[in-house]
Amino acid sequence: MTKAKPRNDKIIIFDTTLRDGEQSPGATMTLEEKILVADVLDQMGVDVIEAGFAMASDGDFEAVKAIAARTKKAVVCSLARCKPDDIARAGEAVKPAKRGRIHTFISTSDIHLKYQFKLTRAEVLEIITNMVKLAKKYTDDVEWSAMDATRSDLLYLTKAVEAAIKAGATTINLPDTVGYATPDDIRMMFTYVMGHAKGAEKAVFSFHGQNDLGLATANTLAAIRAGARQAEVTINGIGERAGNTALEEVVMALKTRQDSYGVSCGVKSEFIMRASKLVSGITGFTVQNNKAIVGANAFAHESGIHQDGMLKNRNTYEIMTPESVGLGKSDLVMGKHSGRAAFRDKLKELGFNLGDNAFEDAFNRFKQLADKKKKIYDDDIMALVDDRAGRAEEERVRLHALDVHCGTKGAQIATVTLLVDGKKLVLTEHGDGPVDATFKAIRGLVPHEARLALYQVNAVTEGIDAQAEVAVRLATKKGILINGNGADTDTLVASALAYIAALNKLLNYQERIVPERSGV
Ligand code: KIV
Repeated sequence: MTKAKPRNDKIIIFDTTLRDGEQSPGATMTLEEKILVADVLDQMGVDVIEAGFAMASDGDFEAVKAIAARTKKAVVCSLARCKPDDIARAGEAVKPAKRGRIHTFISTSDIHLKYQFKLTRAEVLEIITNMVKLAKKYTDDVEWSAMDATRSDLLYLTKAVEAAIKAGATTINLPDTVGYATPDDIRMMFTYVMGHAKGAEKAVFSFHGQNDLGLATANTLAAIRAGARQAEVTINGIGERAGNTALEEVVMALKTRQDSYGVSCGVKSEFIMRASKLVSGITGFTVQNNKAIVGANAFAHESGIHQDGMLKNRNTYEIMTPESVGLGKSDLVMGKHSGRAAFRDKLKELGFNLGDNAFEDAFNRFKQLADKKKKIYDDDIMALVDDRAGRAEEERVRLHALDVHCGTKGAQIATVTLLVDGKKLVLTEHGDGPVDATFKAIRGLVPHEARLALYQVNAVTEGIDAQAEVAVRLATKKGILINGNGADTDTLVASALAYIAALNKLLNYQERIVPERSGV
C-alpha cells in the first residue's frame, strides 16, 4: 500500500467560475466579460483558472485561448471529455498560455457507466489511459477527474485513479458531481484512495464539490483535512444547479482557521469583494444578503448587544475583518435593535454632540422611527436630530424639463433644465447611457462633491405603463449617506427626480451644518 502524503501545506486554488460557474443556467458571459473576470482572478492570486470547455463552442474556445494568451501568473486550463477531439481542441486553446493545463474527465460510477456512457468498467479504464496519454502530448500538466466519484465503487475508483496516474496525470480530482456526499464520506474517500492507489504520491489530489445539500464548503474542508491539496471553487459559489464551493468561503475558512487546518493558500483575500461584485454584476446573479463573506449583511451588526460589543472591541463579534475581504469598516446598521451606544457613535460620526437630555429625546424619536422603518439611514438620523427636524426640506432645486437622446444610434445626450433657487439653468451633457448623461448635467448645474453610491430602479406597478420608482443614494466625502426617491412613468424622469431629491437634502444639510460638522 502506498501512502500519499500531501506534498506541502499550500492549497492550490483552482477557480472554475468561467467553466462550471458559467454552466449555471442564465450565467453565460461574453468574451470581454470572461477576460475581465480572468484578469481579477489572476491578480488575486488564484493558482489555476479553468477558463472554459474549449470543445463546447467556438466562443468557449476563443475565450480559453484569449485568457491563456494574457494571463500572467495563473495556470490556464480547459476542460475536455475523454475524447480525442476534445483533448486536441483543449490543447490548442491552452497553447498560448505560459502554463497550460488540460482537465479531462470521465465517469466512474456504475450508474453513469450503465445509463449514460454505456461502457464497461474495463472499457473506461482503457479510455482513461489512452486519453491521459494523449493529453500529455499537448502539455505536461494534465488533470483527470473521476466524474461522480462520490457514488463510485471505492475499489474501482482506486483502480481508475491508478490508471490515470500511470498514464501521466499530475492532478487527480475526485468530484462530488451530484452534491450527494457528506464531509464524513469525503474524508473517507480521500483517505482510502490516497492511501491505496499505486503512485498516489506522484499526484496532487483535488476536490470539486457541488452544493446540492449545502455541504460544498464543508466537504472541501474535509477533503483538505484528508490530504487533498487542490480545491475547485467559484466566485460567489455559482455553478450547476445549487452551485459549487464558494472561493471566498474556502479562502476565508483557511485563513481564519489556520489554527485548525494549518495550510495556506496564495489568494489575496482583499480582492474577494471586487471579484464577487464583478461576477454578480456580469451574470446578474445577485448575492443573497446573508451569504457568508460577500453578502451585504456579512459584516453588518444591528443587535444592540452586538453593536455595544463591537464599539468596545471588534473581536467581540467579528471573526474576520471586513478589510480582509476588501470592504471598508463594518457597518453598524441602525435599526430597532440598536442601542444607545451605537446611536451615540453614529451621532458622533455625523458630527452631532448632544447634551444628555437632547440625546435621550433624539434616542426616543429614533426608536419610534425604527419601529416604522426597516433601515434607518444617515439622513433620517440627521433629520431627526437637527433642531429644524420636522420642517419640510427646502426644495432649492427643481426639475423644469428633461430632454434625452438615447438608443442604438448616436451619442447618449441629456439636456436638463433646472430651477435652482428660482433661476432657470440649462445644460447638455453626453454620458455612458442616458442616466449617466442626465446625472452629469445635474452635477454640472449644481456642482457638489458627494458621489453616487446607489442607483436602483423598481417598477412599482405591472405592465408597460408601470410607474418606475428610482432610489438614488449620494455619499459625502465623510461617508454620510443621503437618499432620494423619484417616481414617474418615465424611468429617466424618475431618475432625475430621485437625484434632485437627494441633492436637495444634501444642500439643506450643508446649509445647516455647524462649523464642527463642516465637510459633510
Ligand atoms: O461536477 C463535476 O464532476 C465536474 C467535473 C468535470 C470536474 O464538473
